[in-house]
Amino acid sequence: MRYLTFALGKGRLASKTLEMFEKIGITCEEMKDKDTRKLIFVNEELKLRFFLAKGPDVPTYVEYGAADIGIVGKDTILEEGRNIYEVLDLGFGKCRMCVCGPQSAEELLKHHELIRVATKYPKIAKDYFYNTKHQTVEIIKLNGSIELAPIVGLSEVIVDIVETGSTLRENGLNVLEEVCPLSARMVVNQVSMKMEQERISKLIDNLRTVLTEA
Ligand code: PRP
Repeated sequence: MRYLTFALGKGRLASKTLEMFEKIGITCEEMKDKDTRKLIFVNEELKLRFFLAKGPDVPTYVEYGAADIGIVGKDTILEEGRNIYEVLDLGFGKCRMCVCGPQSAEELLKHHELIRVATKYPKIAKDYFYNTKHQTVEIIKLNGSIELAPIVGLSEVIVDIVETGSTLRENGLNVLEEVCPLSARMVVNQVSMKMEQERISKLIDNLRTVLTEA
């Protein structure tokens, strides 16, 4: 039996994933050590390997087959646009991709003004404004703290993730439009899905059972 390799998005997604995997009997003790600098973890008994990667790199590892399976946010899947199968909504990491800004920007959106949109997700923002709303905008790519942009006058609105809404509230911004709901998803390499169909389907079925019981 060959190893099945999992790429997990670093951080909260990874720990939530491991919690869920434990419920179906998949454990990886050495991965729980928070201080470890190790990059790859093995469960010899089950012939599984796990590694942690930056979220946006997970679909890349999976598309190229360096990982058979990935756990990553829907935002990253949409933004990266890789050739991979999305097979399961894991139900955690729930949040929303939204257009946000000061209340005054609502009028600009309504009248399809040529506004500037700051975002970490240019592909999602472009798709939303051009293909869904048919509004021409200027997209400005940023790498973090997106909420700053409308405050300091870099853009009129932002496209960003909203979870609790507290970042927006504390900065005097509002959700103006919802782009799409988000959560953690399982993705699979297209060749692995055929070659390891039995093991992967069983894994998906077991996770589905846990999800329906929750
Ligand atoms: C994300 C997102 C928002 C915030 C939303 O940022 O970009 O800024 O979380 O969460 P809330 O609605 O619960 O306040 P993250 O902390 O990942 O960092 P970043 O701003 O550097 O992207």
